[in-house]
Amino acid sequence: MSFRMVVLISGSGSNLQAILNACGQAATATAPVSIPGSVVGVLSNKADAYGLQRAQHAGIATAVLAHTDFADRIEFDAAMLKQIEAWQADVVVLAGFMRILSPGFVNALQGRLINIHPSLLPKYKGLHTHQRALDAGDRIHGCSVHFVTPELDGGPVIAQAVVDVRDHDSVETLAARVHAAEHRLYPTVLSWLAQQRLTLNAGLIYFDGQPLIAAQQLAT
Ligand code: GAR
Repeated sequence: MSFRMVVLISGSGSNLQAILNACGQAATATAPVSIPGSVVGVLSNKADAYGLQRAQHAGIATAVLAHTDFADRIEFDAAMLKQIEAWQADVVVLAGFMRILSPGFVNALQGRLINIHPSLLPKYKGLHTHQRALDAGDRIHGCSVHFVTPELDGGPVIAQAVVDVRDHDSVETLAARVHAAEHRLYPTVLSWLAQQRLTLNAGLIYFDGQPLIAAQQLAT
């Protein structure tokens, strides 16, 4: 049975595009990584998210749920979960989805909800990660793919990609390099998930049946 991904976005969707390319769901693109699965639905909380056009261009079902139409976060998350279930997702992929998720939503998708974050977690959880890396004078920066837990940007890290910080970097030039790294890292991790090489059990990641000890777990 094929591996079914639902992707949640709020904006440009360049990571969504990289995933579509890797699934062979984009008309012309060739991709360095191949994911044995498909994106079956794209959900956005913003009607004008450019990623919706990317999905439609690839012939993929889309849904818009505006958080402003719901009484509270619990109701909004329940509506998202209903749509995700209707699409029969094996995995839910957060790709620039800029809403905080309720514990109920996260727990309902335990081990099946992953996120990409533009920093080397546990550094720089939250927003403005590139600016913060520049302000701190960091010489390296990057991105992390992690399983999502109720703690914001706090779930166990699966893999990271590192980029160098250059002397004359601006937020824009650094962000562009991190984005390029994201477009390689996310499809790679999703290909492992699609091949069932990665699992989450009692808060620990297993890769090919062996526990993967992430840097932050060693440090605690
Ligand atoms: C990506 O850089 C992703 O890491 C970040 O949003 C961007 C979305 O870009 N996500 C977060 O900051 C989540 N905390 P995209 O829409 O072009 O894929």
